[in-house]
Amino acid sequence: MSITTIQTQPIDGQKPGTSGLRKQTRTFMEPHFLENFVQSIFDGIGGAGGKTFVLGGDGRYFNERAAQVVLRMAAANGAAKVIAGQGALLSTPAASNLIRKRGTDGGIILSASHNPGGQDGDFGVKFNSNNGGPAAEDITGRIYEATKAISEYRILEAHDVDLSTVGVTTLGDMEVEVVDPVADYQALMEDLFDFDALRALFSDGFSMRFDAMHAVTGPYATAILEGALGAAPGTVINGVPSPDFGGGHPDPNPTWAKELMDLMMGPEAPDFGAASDGDGDRNMIVGRGAYVTPSDSLAVLAANYACVPAYEQGLAGVARSMPTSRAVDRVAEKLGIDCYETPTGWKFFGNLLDAGKATLCGEESAGTGSDHVREKDGVWAVLYWLSILAKTRKSVAELLLAHWQSFGRNFYSRHDYEDVATDKANALMDGLRSQLGDLPGQRFAGLTVAEADEFAYDDPVDGSRSEAQGLRIGFEGGARAVFRLSGTGTQGATLRVYLENYETDPTRLALAPEEALASVIRAADALAGIAKHTGRDAPDVTT
Ligand code: G6P
Ligand code: ZN
Repeated sequence: MSITTIQTQPIDGQKPGTSGLRKQTRTFMEPHFLENFVQSIFDGIGGAGGKTFVLGGDGRYFNERAAQVVLRMAAANGAAKVIAGQGALLSTPAASNLIRKRGTDGGIILSASHNPGGQDGDFGVKFNSNNGGPAAEDITGRIYEATKAISEYRILEAHDVDLSTVGVTTLGDMEVEVVDPVADYQALMEDLFDFDALRALFSDGFSMRFDAMHAVTGPYATAILEGALGAAPGTVINGVPSPDFGGGHPDPNPTWAKELMDLMMGPEAPDFGAASDGDGDRNMIVGRGAYVTPSDSLAVLAANYACVPAYEQGLAGVARSMPTSRAVDRVAEKLGIDCYETPTGWKFFGNLLDAGKATLCGEESAGTGSDHVREKDGVWAVLYWLSILAKTRKSVAELLLAHWQSFGRNFYSRHDYEDVATDKANALMDGLRSQLGDLPGQRFAGLTVAEADEFAYDDPVDGSRSEAQGLRIGFEGGARAVFRLSGTGTQGATLRVYLENYETDPTRLALAPEEALASVIRAADALAGIAKHTGRDAPDVTT
Protein backbone atom coordinates (compact mmCIF):
# COMPACT_ATOMS: atom_id res chain seq x y z
CA MET A 1 0.00 0.00 0.00
CA SER A 2 1.51 3.30 -0.99
CA ILE A 3 0.65 6.88 -0.27
CA THR A 4 -0.03 8.92 -3.36
CA THR A 5 0.13 12.68 -3.46
CA ILE A 6 -2.31 14.05 -6.02
CA GLN A 7 -1.91 17.52 -7.48
CA THR A 8 -5.11 19.53 -7.32
CA GLN A 9 -6.45 23.07 -7.44
CA PRO A 10 -8.86 24.97 -5.23
CA ILE A 11 -12.49 24.32 -6.17
CA ASP A 12 -14.97 27.15 -5.74
CA GLY A 13 -17.87 26.82 -3.38
CA GLN A 14 -16.27 24.84 -0.57
CA LYS A 15 -17.24 27.26 2.18
CA PRO A 16 -18.85 25.36 5.08
CA GLY A 17 -22.37 26.64 5.85
CA THR A 18 -24.58 26.41 8.94
CA SER A 19 -23.69 22.77 9.25
CA GLY A 20 -20.65 21.67 7.27
CA LEU A 21 -20.39 21.55 3.49
CA ARG A 22 -23.58 20.59 1.69
CA LYS A 23 -23.85 20.24 -2.05
CA GLN A 24 -25.65 18.24 -4.63
CA THR A 25 -24.44 14.65 -4.59
CA ARG A 26 -23.26 15.02 -8.17
CA THR A 27 -21.02 17.90 -7.17
CA PHE A 28 -19.49 15.85 -4.39
CA MET A 29 -18.82 13.06 -6.90
CA GLU A 30 -16.95 15.33 -9.30
CA PRO A 31 -13.21 14.67 -9.54
CA HIS A 32 -11.29 15.88 -6.47
CA PHE A 33 -14.30 17.61 -4.87
CA LEU A 34 -14.61 15.34 -1.84
CA GLU A 35 -10.85 14.79 -1.62
CA ASN A 36 -10.09 18.53 -1.68
CA PHE A 37 -12.53 19.15 1.16
CA VAL A 38 -11.35 16.25 3.29
CA GLN A 39 -7.72 17.31 2.87
CA SER A 40 -8.75 20.85 3.79
CA ILE A 41 -10.37 19.56 6.97
CA PHE A 42 -7.13 17.86 7.94
CA ASP A 43 -5.08 20.93 6.97
CA GLY A 44 -7.52 23.27 8.73
CA ILE A 45 -7.24 21.40 12.03
CA GLY A 46 -3.47 21.39 11.96
CA GLY A 47 -2.97 17.97 10.36
CA ALA A 48 -4.29 14.49 11.04
CA GLY A 49 -0.97 13.02 12.17
CA GLY A 50 -1.29 10.75 15.22
CA LYS A 51 -4.95 11.68 15.68
CA THR A 52 -8.03 9.53 16.21
CA PHE A 53 -11.32 10.29 14.49
CA VAL A 54 -14.87 8.99 14.50
CA LEU A 55 -16.42 8.39 11.07
CA GLY A 56 -19.99 7.66 10.07
CA GLY A 57 -22.90 8.94 8.08
CA ASP A 58 -26.61 8.79 7.55
CA GLY A 59 -26.58 6.06 4.90
CA ARG A 60 -27.50 8.24 1.96
CA TYR A 61 -26.27 7.56 -1.57
CA PHE A 62 -22.45 7.90 -1.77
CA ASN A 63 -22.13 7.42 2.02
CA GLU A 64 -20.05 4.28 1.96
CA ARG A 65 -17.94 5.36 -1.04
CA ALA A 66 -17.15 8.64 0.65
CA ALA A 67 -16.34 6.86 3.92
CA GLN A 68 -13.76 4.71 2.09
CA VAL A 69 -12.15 7.85 0.65
CA VAL A 70 -12.02 9.48 4.09
CA LEU A 71 -10.43 6.34 5.53
CA ARG A 72 -7.75 6.20 2.83
CA MET A 73 -7.02 9.91 3.20
CA ALA A 74 -6.90 9.70 7.00
CA ALA A 75 -4.39 6.86 6.71
CA ALA A 76 -2.33 8.77 4.16
CA ASN A 77 -2.34 11.83 6.40
CA GLY A 78 -0.92 9.82 9.29
CA ALA A 79 -4.01 9.41 11.49
CA ALA A 80 -3.51 6.82 14.21
CA LYS A 81 -7.02 5.46 14.25
CA VAL A 82 -10.55 5.82 12.90
CA ILE A 83 -13.59 4.50 14.78
CA ALA A 84 -16.25 3.88 12.14
CA GLY A 85 -19.88 2.91 12.46
CA GLN A 86 -20.73 -0.49 10.99
CA GLY A 87 -21.87 -0.04 7.40
CA ALA A 88 -20.46 3.53 7.65
CA LEU A 89 -23.60 4.42 9.61
CA LEU A 90 -23.75 6.68 12.63
CA SER A 91 -26.46 9.12 13.54
CA THR A 92 -25.10 12.59 14.21
CA PRO A 93 -25.81 12.42 17.98
CA ALA A 94 -24.31 8.91 18.16
CA ALA A 95 -21.17 10.23 16.43
CA SER A 96 -21.03 13.08 18.92
CA ASN A 97 -21.33 10.60 21.77
CA LEU A 98 -18.54 8.40 20.41
CA ILE A 99 -16.20 11.37 19.99
CA ARG A 100 -16.76 12.27 23.64
CA LYS A 101 -16.82 8.78 25.09
CA ARG A 102 -13.62 7.69 23.32
CA GLY A 103 -11.91 11.05 23.76
CA THR A 104 -11.08 11.31 20.05
CA ASP A 105 -9.69 14.36 18.26
CA GLY A 106 -12.96 14.84 16.44
CA GLY A 107 -15.08 13.16 13.82
CA ILE A 108 -16.20 13.37 10.23
CA ILE A 109 -19.92 13.00 9.65
CA LEU A 110 -21.19 12.26 6.16
CA SER A 111 -24.64 13.75 5.91
CA ALA A 112 -26.75 16.44 4.36
CA SER A 113 -29.08 16.09 7.33
CA HIS A 114 -32.71 16.52 6.28
CA ASN A 115 -31.98 17.30 2.62
CA PRO A 116 -33.15 14.64 0.15
CA GLY A 117 -30.56 12.03 -0.80
CA GLY A 118 -29.78 9.99 -3.87
CA GLN A 119 -27.90 10.71 -7.05
CA ASP A 120 -30.15 13.71 -7.67
CA GLY A 121 -30.23 14.73 -4.02
CA ASP A 122 -27.67 16.21 -1.68
CA PHE A 123 -24.61 15.06 0.18
CA GLY A 124 -22.60 16.66 2.93
CA VAL A 125 -19.47 16.47 5.03
CA LYS A 126 -19.12 17.96 8.48
CA PHE A 127 -16.25 18.06 10.93
CA ASN A 128 -16.99 17.85 14.65
CA SER A 129 -14.38 18.83 17.21
CA ASN A 130 -13.13 16.90 20.21
CA ASN A 131 -15.99 18.16 22.38
CA GLY A 132 -18.32 16.23 20.04
CA GLY A 133 -19.89 19.35 18.56
CA PRO A 134 -19.85 20.96 15.12
CA ALA A 135 -16.58 22.78 14.59
CA ALA A 136 -16.69 26.36 15.78
CA GLU A 137 -16.45 29.24 13.33
CA ASP A 138 -12.71 29.76 13.72
CA ILE A 139 -12.11 26.15 12.70
CA THR A 140 -14.56 26.16 9.78
CA GLY A 141 -12.90 29.42 8.77
CA ARG A 142 -9.49 27.73 8.68
CA ILE A 143 -10.93 24.80 6.74
CA TYR A 144 -12.36 27.25 4.21
CA GLU A 145 -9.01 29.02 3.91
CA ALA A 146 -7.40 25.63 3.30
CA THR A 147 -9.87 24.89 0.47
CA LYS A 148 -8.74 28.09 -1.21
CA ALA A 149 -5.04 27.33 -0.87
CA ILE A 150 -4.97 23.60 -1.57
CA SER A 151 -2.49 22.31 -4.15
CA GLU A 152 -2.32 18.60 -3.33
CA TYR A 153 -3.95 15.87 -1.28
CA ARG A 154 -2.70 12.58 0.08
CA ILE A 155 -4.50 9.28 -0.34
CA LEU A 156 -3.54 5.68 0.24
CA GLU A 157 -3.82 3.23 -2.62
CA ALA A 158 -5.63 0.33 -1.02
CA HIS A 159 -8.63 -1.94 -1.17
CA ASP A 160 -11.83 -0.97 0.61
CA VAL A 161 -11.94 -1.58 4.34
CA ASP A 162 -14.62 -4.11 5.30
CA LEU A 163 -17.07 -1.93 7.21
CA SER A 164 -19.75 -4.59 7.34
CA THR A 165 -18.34 -6.45 10.33
CA VAL A 166 -17.70 -5.16 13.83
CA GLY A 167 -14.04 -5.50 14.81
CA VAL A 168 -10.56 -4.05 14.51
CA THR A 169 -8.53 -4.01 11.32
CA THR A 170 -5.76 -1.91 9.79
CA LEU A 171 -5.40 0.29 6.76
CA GLY A 172 -1.72 0.95 6.11
CA ASP A 173 -0.39 2.02 9.49
CA MET A 174 -3.78 3.20 10.71
CA GLU A 175 -6.11 1.19 12.93
CA VAL A 176 -9.78 1.01 11.93
CA GLU A 177 -12.28 -0.05 14.57
CA VAL A 178 -15.75 -0.83 13.25
CA VAL A 179 -18.37 -0.46 15.99
CA ASP A 180 -22.06 -1.20 16.34
CA PRO A 181 -23.60 2.23 15.62
CA VAL A 182 -26.36 1.82 18.21
CA ALA A 183 -24.77 0.17 21.27
CA ASP A 184 -22.91 3.10 22.88
CA TYR A 185 -25.74 5.47 22.12
CA GLN A 186 -28.31 3.16 23.69
CA ALA A 187 -26.13 2.83 26.80
CA LEU A 188 -26.05 6.62 27.09
CA MET A 189 -29.84 6.81 26.86
CA GLU A 190 -30.13 4.18 29.59
CA ASP A 191 -27.96 6.38 31.81
CA LEU A 192 -30.11 9.46 31.25
CA PHE A 193 -33.64 8.06 31.35
CA ASP A 194 -35.58 5.73 33.62
CA PHE A 195 -36.09 2.82 31.21
CA ASP A 196 -38.18 0.92 33.80
CA ALA A 197 -40.70 3.76 33.91
CA LEU A 198 -40.81 3.88 30.11
CA ARG A 199 -41.27 0.11 29.89
CA ALA A 200 -44.16 0.43 32.35
CA LEU A 201 -45.77 3.08 30.15
CA PHE A 202 -45.72 0.77 27.12
CA SER A 203 -46.81 -2.28 29.09
CA ASP A 204 -49.83 -0.26 30.26
CA GLY A 205 -50.95 -0.09 26.63
CA PHE A 206 -49.46 3.24 25.55
CA SER A 207 -49.30 3.36 21.77
CA MET A 208 -46.85 5.20 19.60
CA ARG A 209 -45.65 5.60 16.04
CA PHE A 210 -42.08 6.64 15.27
CA ASP A 211 -41.40 7.59 11.65
CA ALA A 212 -37.71 7.09 10.87
CA MET A 213 -38.34 8.48 7.38
CA HIS A 214 -36.18 5.72 5.79
CA ALA A 215 -33.19 7.37 7.43
CA VAL A 216 -30.58 6.63 10.05
CA THR A 217 -32.72 6.52 13.20
CA GLY A 218 -34.48 3.34 12.07
CA PRO A 219 -31.98 1.00 13.75
CA TYR A 220 -31.75 3.22 16.85
CA ALA A 221 -35.50 3.56 17.35
CA THR A 222 -36.15 -0.10 16.68
CA ALA A 223 -33.50 -1.23 19.18
CA ILE A 224 -34.57 1.22 21.88
CA LEU A 225 -38.34 1.57 21.51
CA GLU A 226 -39.33 -1.88 20.30
CA GLY A 227 -36.33 -3.75 21.71
CA ALA A 228 -35.46 -2.27 25.11
CA LEU A 229 -38.75 -0.58 25.98
CA GLY A 230 -41.21 -3.15 24.69
CA ALA A 231 -43.20 -0.90 22.36
CA ALA A 232 -45.38 -2.95 20.04
CA PRO A 233 -43.77 -4.26 16.84
CA GLY A 234 -44.61 -1.83 14.07
CA THR A 235 -44.16 1.18 16.36
CA VAL A 236 -41.23 2.20 14.15
CA ILE A 237 -42.23 2.83 10.57
CA ASN A 238 -39.96 3.44 7.56
CA GLY A 239 -37.24 2.02 9.78
CA VAL A 240 -34.76 0.69 7.23
CA PRO A 241 -32.26 3.33 6.05
CA SER A 242 -32.35 3.68 2.28
CA PRO A 243 -29.86 5.57 0.06
CA ASP A 244 -32.54 7.96 -1.20
CA PHE A 245 -34.75 7.86 1.91
CA GLY A 246 -37.46 6.05 -0.02
CA GLY A 247 -37.57 8.93 -2.48
CA GLY A 248 -38.71 11.21 0.34
CA HIS A 249 -37.51 14.32 2.05
CA PRO A 250 -36.28 13.21 5.47
CA ASP A 251 -37.24 16.37 7.32
CA PRO A 252 -39.54 15.81 10.29
CA ASN A 253 -42.10 18.57 9.93
CA PRO A 254 -45.81 18.57 9.12
CA THR A 255 -45.11 19.02 5.42
CA TRP A 256 -42.61 16.22 4.89
CA ALA A 257 -43.81 13.85 7.61
CA LYS A 258 -47.32 14.03 6.22
CA GLU A 259 -48.00 10.31 6.56
CA LEU A 260 -47.44 10.55 10.31
CA MET A 261 -49.32 13.84 10.62
CA ASP A 262 -52.35 12.43 8.83
CA LEU A 263 -52.34 9.43 11.15
CA MET A 264 -52.05 11.57 14.27
CA MET A 265 -54.85 13.90 13.20
CA GLY A 266 -57.15 11.02 12.25
CA PRO A 267 -59.43 8.60 14.12
CA GLU A 268 -56.81 5.83 14.35
CA ALA A 269 -54.19 8.01 16.03
CA PRO A 270 -51.99 6.33 18.63
CA ASP A 271 -51.19 8.18 21.87
CA PHE A 272 -47.96 9.64 20.60
CA GLY A 273 -46.13 10.24 17.34
CA ALA A 274 -42.58 11.30 16.54
CA ALA A 275 -40.22 11.48 13.60
CA SER A 276 -36.54 12.14 13.04
CA ASP A 277 -34.50 13.36 10.11
CA GLY A 278 -31.85 11.96 7.77
CA ASP A 279 -29.02 11.93 10.30
CA GLY A 280 -31.10 11.60 13.46
CA ASP A 281 -30.55 14.94 15.11
CA ARG A 282 -33.91 16.59 14.39
CA ASN A 283 -37.25 15.55 15.82
CA MET A 284 -40.93 16.19 15.43
CA ILE A 285 -43.33 15.59 18.29
CA VAL A 286 -47.04 15.16 17.77
CA GLY A 287 -49.77 13.97 20.08
CA ARG A 288 -53.19 12.69 19.16
CA GLY A 289 -54.65 15.70 17.34
CA ALA A 290 -51.91 17.95 18.74
CA TYR A 291 -48.81 19.04 16.83
CA VAL A 292 -46.07 20.42 19.08
CA THR A 293 -43.96 23.18 17.57
CA PRO A 294 -40.24 22.72 18.17
CA SER A 295 -40.21 25.95 20.15
CA ASP A 296 -43.01 24.73 22.42
CA SER A 297 -41.31 21.37 22.72
CA LEU A 298 -38.19 23.00 24.15
CA ALA A 299 -40.31 24.96 26.63
CA VAL A 300 -42.22 21.87 27.74
CA LEU A 301 -39.01 19.86 28.16
CA ALA A 302 -37.52 22.64 30.27
CA ALA A 303 -40.62 23.04 32.43
CA ASN A 304 -40.76 19.29 33.09
CA TYR A 305 -37.08 18.69 33.83
CA ALA A 306 -38.00 16.88 37.03
CA CYS A 307 -39.47 13.97 35.01
CA VAL A 308 -36.01 12.82 33.87
CA PRO A 309 -33.41 11.40 36.28
CA ALA A 310 -30.53 13.10 34.45
CA TYR A 311 -32.03 16.56 34.94
CA GLU A 312 -34.10 16.27 38.12
CA GLN A 313 -31.47 18.15 40.12
CA GLY A 314 -32.28 21.23 38.05
CA LEU A 315 -31.12 22.92 34.87
CA ALA A 316 -28.05 25.16 34.80
CA GLY A 317 -29.67 27.27 32.11
CA VAL A 318 -31.35 27.00 28.74
CA ALA A 319 -30.47 28.28 25.29
CA ARG A 320 -32.35 28.80 22.06
CA SER A 321 -31.47 30.14 18.66
CA MET A 322 -32.67 33.69 18.03
CA PRO A 323 -35.51 32.81 15.62
CA THR A 324 -36.86 30.16 18.03
CA SER A 325 -39.94 31.43 19.85
CA ARG A 326 -39.53 32.92 23.26
CA ALA A 327 -41.67 30.27 24.97
CA VAL A 328 -38.66 28.83 26.78
CA ASP A 329 -37.67 32.29 28.04
CA ARG A 330 -40.82 32.32 30.16
CA VAL A 331 -40.00 28.93 31.64
CA ALA A 332 -36.46 30.06 32.44
CA GLU A 333 -37.80 33.15 34.11
CA LYS A 334 -40.08 31.09 36.32
CA LEU A 335 -37.30 28.63 37.15
CA GLY A 336 -34.92 31.50 37.88
CA ILE A 337 -32.29 30.27 35.41
CA ASP A 338 -30.46 31.98 32.55
CA CYS A 339 -31.78 31.82 29.01
CA TYR A 340 -29.28 32.41 26.18
CA GLU A 341 -30.16 33.59 22.69
CA THR A 342 -27.70 32.38 20.04
CA PRO A 343 -27.46 32.56 16.24
CA THR A 344 -28.96 29.73 14.18
CA GLY A 345 -26.66 26.71 14.16
CA TRP A 346 -26.10 24.11 16.84
CA LYS A 347 -22.41 24.97 17.00
CA PHE A 348 -23.26 28.14 18.92
CA PHE A 349 -24.52 26.07 21.87
CA GLY A 350 -21.20 24.25 22.22
CA ASN A 351 -19.44 26.81 24.39
CA LEU A 352 -22.48 27.26 26.66
CA LEU A 353 -22.75 23.50 27.17
CA ASP A 354 -19.00 23.06 27.69
CA ALA A 355 -18.97 25.89 30.24
CA GLY A 356 -21.92 24.42 32.13
CA LYS A 357 -24.03 27.50 31.46
CA ALA A 358 -26.85 25.66 29.72
CA THR A 359 -28.29 22.17 30.15
CA LEU A 360 -31.02 22.19 27.50
CA CYS A 361 -30.90 23.82 24.07
CA GLY A 362 -33.30 24.00 21.19
CA GLU A 363 -34.04 25.48 17.82
CA GLU A 364 -37.17 26.16 15.83
CA SER A 365 -35.68 23.98 13.08
CA ALA A 366 -36.77 20.88 14.99
CA GLY A 367 -33.70 20.47 17.15
CA THR A 368 -33.61 19.84 20.87
CA GLY A 369 -30.79 18.49 22.94
CA SER A 370 -28.84 18.71 26.14
CA ASP A 371 -25.36 18.55 27.56
CA HIS A 372 -25.29 14.74 27.10
CA VAL A 373 -23.75 15.24 23.63
CA ARG A 374 -22.86 18.31 21.58
CA GLU A 375 -25.48 17.84 18.88
CA LYS A 376 -29.22 17.99 18.85
CA ASP A 377 -30.68 14.58 19.34
CA GLY A 378 -33.93 13.26 17.87
CA VAL A 379 -34.27 9.97 19.74
CA TRP A 380 -33.25 11.66 23.01
CA ALA A 381 -36.08 14.20 22.56
CA VAL A 382 -38.55 11.37 22.03
CA LEU A 383 -37.38 9.59 25.19
CA TYR A 384 -37.63 12.86 27.13
CA TRP A 385 -41.22 13.35 25.95
CA LEU A 386 -42.04 9.75 26.79
CA SER A 387 -40.60 10.32 30.28
CA ILE A 388 -42.92 13.29 30.80
CA LEU A 389 -45.90 11.30 29.53
CA ALA A 390 -44.95 8.34 31.74
CA LYS A 391 -44.64 10.50 34.84
CA THR A 392 -47.70 12.71 34.36
CA ARG A 393 -49.91 10.20 32.51
CA LYS A 394 -51.37 13.19 30.68
CA SER A 395 -51.94 13.31 26.94
CA VAL A 396 -49.79 15.57 24.78
CA ALA A 397 -52.79 17.86 24.22
CA GLU A 398 -53.44 18.13 27.97
CA LEU A 399 -49.80 18.84 28.69
CA LEU A 400 -49.66 21.57 26.06
CA LEU A 401 -52.81 23.27 27.30
CA ALA A 402 -51.61 23.16 30.90
CA HIS A 403 -48.29 24.63 29.77
CA TRP A 404 -49.95 27.51 27.94
CA GLN A 405 -52.23 28.16 30.89
CA SER A 406 -49.26 28.67 33.17
CA PHE A 407 -46.86 30.42 30.79
CA GLY A 408 -49.00 31.91 28.03
CA ARG A 409 -48.74 30.70 24.44
CA ASN A 410 -46.18 31.82 21.90
CA PHE A 411 -48.02 31.14 18.66
CA TYR A 412 -45.39 30.38 16.08
CA SER A 413 -44.89 29.57 12.45
CA ARG A 414 -42.06 29.68 9.93
CA HIS A 415 -42.66 30.50 6.29
CA ASP A 416 -40.01 29.37 3.82
CA TYR A 417 -39.60 30.70 0.31
CA GLU A 418 -37.29 28.23 -1.38
CA ASP A 419 -34.98 28.54 -4.37
CA VAL A 420 -35.42 32.29 -4.67
CA ALA A 421 -32.90 33.93 -7.01
CA THR A 422 -29.98 34.96 -4.81
CA ASP A 423 -29.99 38.59 -6.00
CA LYS A 424 -33.70 38.93 -5.25
CA ALA A 425 -33.34 37.45 -1.78
CA ASN A 426 -30.38 39.72 -1.08
CA ALA A 427 -32.34 42.72 -2.34
CA LEU A 428 -35.14 41.94 0.09
CA MET A 429 -32.75 41.59 3.01
CA ASP A 430 -30.72 44.68 2.04
CA GLY A 431 -33.89 46.72 1.62
CA LEU A 432 -35.18 45.72 5.02
CA ARG A 433 -31.79 46.20 6.67
CA SER A 434 -31.56 49.73 5.35
CA GLN A 435 -34.94 50.64 6.88
CA LEU A 436 -34.35 49.14 10.33
CA GLY A 437 -33.52 52.43 12.02
CA ASP A 438 -36.70 54.10 10.78
CA LEU A 439 -39.13 51.28 11.58
CA PRO A 440 -39.84 51.87 15.29
CA GLY A 441 -43.13 53.73 15.63
CA GLN A 442 -44.34 52.85 12.13
CA ARG A 443 -47.51 50.82 11.67
CA PHE A 444 -47.87 47.83 9.34
CA ALA A 445 -51.13 45.92 8.95
CA GLY A 446 -52.33 47.35 12.24
CA LEU A 447 -49.19 46.49 14.24
CA THR A 448 -46.77 49.12 15.53
CA VAL A 449 -43.06 48.35 15.40
CA ALA A 450 -41.49 48.62 18.85
CA GLU A 451 -37.92 47.67 17.94
CA ALA A 452 -35.95 46.52 14.93
CA ASP A 453 -32.35 45.38 14.65
CA GLU A 454 -29.92 43.00 13.04
CA PHE A 455 -28.97 40.27 15.47
CA ALA A 456 -25.33 39.91 16.47
CA TYR A 457 -24.07 37.49 19.09
CA ASP A 458 -21.29 37.99 21.59
CA ASP A 459 -20.30 34.58 22.88
CA PRO A 460 -20.15 34.90 26.67
CA VAL A 461 -17.55 32.15 26.91
CA ASP A 462 -14.90 32.94 24.31
CA GLY A 463 -15.82 36.54 23.59
CA SER A 464 -16.17 35.99 19.84
CA ARG A 465 -18.70 38.05 17.93
CA SER A 466 -20.94 36.78 15.13
CA GLU A 467 -22.63 39.48 13.10
CA ALA A 468 -25.46 39.61 10.56
CA GLN A 469 -27.45 36.75 12.08
CA GLY A 470 -30.94 37.82 11.03
CA LEU A 471 -33.22 40.83 11.04
CA ARG A 472 -35.70 41.01 13.89
CA ILE A 473 -38.70 43.22 14.18
CA GLY A 474 -40.56 43.39 17.49
CA PHE A 475 -44.08 44.79 17.59
CA GLU A 476 -45.95 46.39 20.45
CA GLY A 477 -47.91 43.71 22.29
CA GLY A 478 -45.22 41.03 21.92
CA ALA A 479 -45.52 39.89 18.30
CA ARG A 480 -42.29 39.39 16.36
CA ALA A 481 -41.14 38.76 12.81
CA VAL A 482 -37.62 37.59 12.00
CA PHE A 483 -36.05 37.43 8.53
CA ARG A 484 -33.04 35.30 7.63
CA LEU A 485 -31.54 33.57 4.65
CA SER A 486 -30.93 29.87 5.19
CA GLY A 487 -27.35 28.70 5.52
CA THR A 488 -28.07 25.11 4.58
CA GLY A 489 -29.72 25.30 1.16
CA THR A 490 -27.96 24.02 -1.93
CA GLN A 491 -29.97 25.79 -4.61
CA GLY A 492 -30.61 29.53 -4.88
CA ALA A 493 -31.54 31.23 -1.62
CA THR A 494 -34.14 30.22 0.91
CA LEU A 495 -35.83 33.09 2.70
CA ARG A 496 -37.08 32.17 6.16
CA VAL A 497 -39.69 34.34 7.84
CA TYR A 498 -40.27 33.43 11.48
CA LEU A 499 -43.55 34.65 12.94
CA GLU A 500 -44.53 34.79 16.57
CA ASN A 501 -47.35 36.22 18.64
CA TYR A 502 -47.70 35.98 22.41
CA GLU A 503 -51.09 35.31 23.95
CA THR A 504 -52.20 35.04 27.57
CA ASP A 505 -55.97 35.42 27.19
CA PRO A 506 -57.31 32.02 28.35
CA THR A 507 -60.11 32.13 25.77
CA ARG A 508 -57.60 32.50 22.91
CA LEU A 509 -55.04 29.83 23.83
CA ALA A 510 -56.55 27.23 21.49
CA LEU A 511 -56.81 29.44 18.41
CA ALA A 512 -55.51 28.07 15.13
CA PRO A 513 -51.95 29.41 14.67
CA GLU A 514 -52.82 30.95 11.25
CA GLU A 515 -55.54 32.95 12.96
CA ALA A 516 -53.42 34.07 15.90
CA LEU A 517 -50.62 35.03 13.53
CA ALA A 518 -52.69 36.64 10.77
CA SER A 519 -51.76 40.22 11.61
CA VAL A 520 -48.05 39.59 12.01
CA ILE A 521 -48.01 37.62 8.72
CA ARG A 522 -49.54 40.63 6.95
CA ALA A 523 -47.22 43.05 8.71
CA ALA A 524 -44.15 41.00 7.73
CA ASP A 525 -45.13 41.12 4.08
CA ALA A 526 -45.95 44.81 4.23
CA LEU A 527 -42.65 45.81 5.75
CA ALA A 528 -40.34 43.52 3.77
CA GLY A 529 -42.21 43.32 0.45
CA ILE A 530 -41.97 39.54 0.31
CA ALA A 531 -44.42 39.12 -2.55
CA LYS A 532 -42.85 42.01 -4.45
CA HIS A 533 -39.27 40.75 -4.16
CA THR A 534 -39.84 37.01 -4.54
CA GLY A 535 -42.77 37.07 -6.93
CA ARG A 536 -44.41 34.44 -4.72
CA ASP A 537 -47.79 34.87 -3.14
CA ALA A 538 -47.40 32.02 -0.64
CA PRO A 539 -44.53 30.25 1.10
CA ASP A 540 -43.34 26.88 -0.26
CA VAL A 541 -43.16 25.34 3.19
CA THR A 542 -44.88 26.33 6.39
CA THR A 543 -43.77 24.74 9.64
C1 G6P B 1 -29.02 22.61 10.60
C2 G6P B 1 -28.28 23.02 11.82
C3 G6P B 1 -29.21 23.71 12.76
C4 G6P B 1 -29.91 24.86 12.09
C5 G6P B 1 -30.59 24.38 10.84
C6 G6P B 1 -31.28 25.47 10.04
O1 G6P B 1 -29.96 21.63 10.92
O2 G6P B 1 -27.71 21.90 12.46
O3 G6P B 1 -28.51 24.12 13.89
O4 G6P B 1 -30.86 25.41 12.93
O5 G6P B 1 -29.66 23.72 10.03
O6 G6P B 1 -30.38 26.20 9.32
P1 G6P B 1 -30.79 27.21 8.19
O7 G6P B 1 -29.58 28.06 8.04
O8 G6P B 1 -31.16 26.41 6.97
O9 G6P B 1 -32.00 27.96 8.70
ZN1 ZN C 1 -30.04 16.60 10.78
